[in-house]
Amino acid sequence: MRIILIGAPGTGKGTQGTFISERYKIPKISTGDMLREAVHLKTNIGRIIKNVIEKGKLVSNEIVCNLIAKRIQKKDCINGFLLDGFPRTLEQAYYLSKINFKIDYVLEFMVPFQSILERISGRRVHAASGRIYHVKFKPPKIQNKDDITGQELIIREDDKIESVIQRLEEYKKIHDPLIKYYINQKKMGNIKFFQINGTNSVSFIHKKIEQALK
Ligand code: AP5
Repeated sequence: MRIILIGAPGTGKGTQGTFISERYKIPKISTGDMLREAVHLKTNIGRIIKNVIEKGKLVSNEIVCNLIAKRIQKKDCINGFLLDGFPRTLEQAYYLSKINFKIDYVLEFMVPFQSILERISGRRVHAASGRIYHVKFKPPKIQNKDDITGQELIIREDDKIESVIQRLEEYKKIHDPLIKYYINQKKMGNIKFFQINGTNSVSFIHKKIEQALK
């Protein structure tokens, strides 16, 4: 099962991606997490992309495609994988097709921009694991501590309001061509494509996803 999650920042890709990964036993591959890890480790790529991410811009197709190409060839992807946040541009979508990784499902999460701001402003993250919380919608058991390790939760650098607005602008630019591409792929019978209302509760969306992936 090879699945792609598409959606603006804060629409729940990471949250639902974790569910899908556990439910269907396939790795969740998040380009955002991989890029943040590279920044944290201060690798060569990390130094290049730090500013790009914090400004809310997109990292170059070349860097992201190389990361993905290496990752999806690992053994744990043999029975499938879930891509969270990739492809994000038409070039990235073409790249997947060029390297012959056939995709089975594309799920797009849709949430109005106003709700996105509320979601992102309340998001807290456990940096080491990528576990995602929300101060109101998914609070940790102990305030600002990860449920599993008890470590401090953080606010992502790119969750500052200026970065979020820029990320939403970037998303508006790329959204239409990417979605048209996948609608076309659906018409040709190459993929199954579902648009999911992301404003519902997390558990309700789990059910919608299960119906889609039947
Ligand atoms: P990335 O990490 O992919 O960020 P994003 O796409 O902006 O998405 P987010 O992680 O912000 O949100 P999400 O949809 O995962 O929502 P979440 O589940 O956390 O990318 C970061 C940056 O890396 C990019 O800006 C770019 O610079 C770079 N990058 C990454 N991929 C790239 C690529 N392919 N090409 C180029 N550059 C790339 O949910 C948000 C909050 O809402 C959480 O607090 C959660 O608890 C809460 N929540 C979730 N669902 C619900 C619900 N149903 N009801 C109530 N609250 C909910």
